[in-house]
Amino acid sequence: MQKNNNKLRSLLILGGWTTLLLASLVQGAEIRSPDRKIVFSIDVSAGGVPTYSVWYREEPVVGESRLGLRFAEHLGLDAGLRVTAERIRNEDTKWDQPWGERREVRDFYNELLVTFESTDDTPRHFNVRVRVHNDGVGFRYEVPAQDYYDDLRIVDELTEFRLPLDATAWWIPAYSWNRHEFIYRETPIGDAALANTPMTVRLANGTHVSVHEAALVDYAGYVLDQRRAGVFQTNLTPWSDGIRVNTQTPFETPWRTLQISPNAVGLLNSSLILNLNEPNALGDVSWVEPGKYVGIWWAMHLGLKTWGSGDTHGATTAAAKRYIDFAADNGFDGVLIEGWNTGWDGDWFNNGSIFSFTEPYPDFDIRAVADHARSRGTRLIGHHETSGHISNYEAQMQDAFDLYESVGVRQVKTGYVADGGDLRRVDADGNTHHEWHDGQFAVDHFERVLKEAAKRRISINTHEPVKATGLRRTYPNWISREGARGQEYNAAWAVPNPPDHAVTLAYTRMLGGPMDYTPGIFDLLHQGPESEFRVQSTLMHQLALYVVLYSPIQMAADLPENYAKFPDAFQFIRDVPTDWDESVAVAGEVGDYVVFARKERGGEDWYLGAISDEQARALRVPLTFLTPGQDYIATIYRDGDNADWVTNPYDYVIEERELDNGRLLQLALAAGGGVAIRFRPGPGKEQ
Ligand code: NOJ
Ligand code: CA
Repeated sequence: MQKNNNKLRSLLILGGWTTLLLASLVQGAEIRSPDRKIVFSIDVSAGGVPTYSVWYREEPVVGESRLGLRFAEHLGLDAGLRVTAERIRNEDTKWDQPWGERREVRDFYNELLVTFESTDDTPRHFNVRVRVHNDGVGFRYEVPAQDYYDDLRIVDELTEFRLPLDATAWWIPAYSWNRHEFIYRETPIGDAALANTPMTVRLANGTHVSVHEAALVDYAGYVLDQRRAGVFQTNLTPWSDGIRVNTQTPFETPWRTLQISPNAVGLLNSSLILNLNEPNALGDVSWVEPGKYVGIWWAMHLGLKTWGSGDTHGATTAAAKRYIDFAADNGFDGVLIEGWNTGWDGDWFNNGSIFSFTEPYPDFDIRAVADHARSRGTRLIGHHETSGHISNYEAQMQDAFDLYESVGVRQVKTGYVADGGDLRRVDADGNTHHEWHDGQFAVDHFERVLKEAAKRRISINTHEPVKATGLRRTYPNWISREGARGQEYNAAWAVPNPPDHAVTLAYTRMLGGPMDYTPGIFDLLHQGPESEFRVQSTLMHQLALYVVLYSPIQMAADLPENYAKFPDAFQFIRDVPTDWDESVAVAGEVGDYVVFARKERGGEDWYLGAISDEQARALRVPLTFLTPGQDYIATIYRDGDNADWVTNPYDYVIEERELDNGRLLQLALAAGGGVAIRFRPGPGKEQ
């Protein structure tokens, strides 16, 4: 890749906009990150085709790659173009998250706005806005209102990512039946065919890159389509009629993002995705409550109870009160109850059209349950499983949220169990169409749900969602989501998650935002020691997940009776917060291991979580994140010397040590193991 040194380079002027009118003198421009390590250059190649490339530390990350949009009935914005203006600007601000992995986020970038105009007889124009942060880049198309374009049907986005072929990729397949719930594949990048994002890439020189998008609003989520070796095109998830996006000018696309870091943990410490989203649109969101919950849930996944009615019905008033008492006794904030509403009987996967979201089964008294929860200082968490029938849900959505609001519910878990491409949309003529979870129809639906819920001060935890692109910043009531293979696969009905699964999630799915993984299974051998259906981790790994896999709501997923068997280990789940002032990914490698430290919101305690894949490993972790000069009492929950997820998952040690930030902590993680630590300030503080 040859950098074009003849063209006029963009100038960075501190503060305000600088406009350069370039006429035909200049083809393109480049912009650097504030630390000057990332370079984004934009150009127009032969035929007036817009292109860009990205460099990191003087080495190519994205080779010359195409930009552009094509429409069904209009001339495209893909060739016959020239650059007519560039504006440069920079920004260095801070903003606070109402809840999050850190309180304060720095938004620090240089921005380039490039205007392209057509050179043919049909005048039309658009902008590409580029923001280059120290932790990566985002760029998007902006198509202003103009004579030629009004209503538009996008049939193709031509954005490419030309990535080096000697790279390794971690990815899951797209356009497949199981949505985002696949085990990650680690392959040479050339083998990543149709891949969902975020896709994580390690270049031969050790640079790590995550390819994703931010602020997916009223548009289609894209899939990485490797059409030529190493060249991935943004394949926009289509509607059932083949059109990718229905829109009108003015519009802007989501940001196409590349998080870039010299090492694996740098990706985990990036705030790029959040920074590229719009600020909170909901105003006062003090009603959005992070916290921990239990639920009438795992028993169904184990096959001990059913969502449907009858003798095995899980969601009875009596059972709900037992769970509520358990929650209250142990300091949990909520109790999720699934299967309380009619529609679950028979084959609920295919029953989407008959779910009622307001009618309880006769053995469930929703008001009595909600009142009992509030009287015990906890709350009922609502549940809306749609089985992918969005039209049935939307027809009842107002009433459904009204009911929950009236009984004091503050959080609803929604569900969209349906094969990929099989969300049901019934049009005005009564015809049923089948849509994707990442298509524009679903994207718009999820936004409608958030807005309806927000009117009633309700937060949403979406299962089988669209991919996470940082919209929690704009809608802080989008409190969590699934969107990957969760703990549920470790139940009685699926191939369990392999020991490296959660480690890999940390470097892939989690880069999009919080995940409701539902950690904390203590009965690791629930089908007996000989069964293949088991949890492929040690008990300590389950504890560490609360720190490693960030979510402002965390479930203690197991049955209360299983926590009673290990009260000392359960203490960690009782103690661990879910809302943080600061988070630091301390060490790790993609798919191998990860060490996270997080400081509780509004307090002085730090927590550390470390998990390993199928390998046992010894780590030396610097405690530099702790406050200098402060002594800490560390309660360490670690794998025992003979722990191993296969042979000895319950061998663990809980011990206390005095530690401070000058120490190098030795951690021994078993195969499939983990370590969880709570650091409390001790008496000693230097003056
Ligand atoms: C799939 C969700 O991921 C799971 O948590 C839930 O229990 C079932 N759907 C039923 O809604
Ligand atoms: Ca699921």
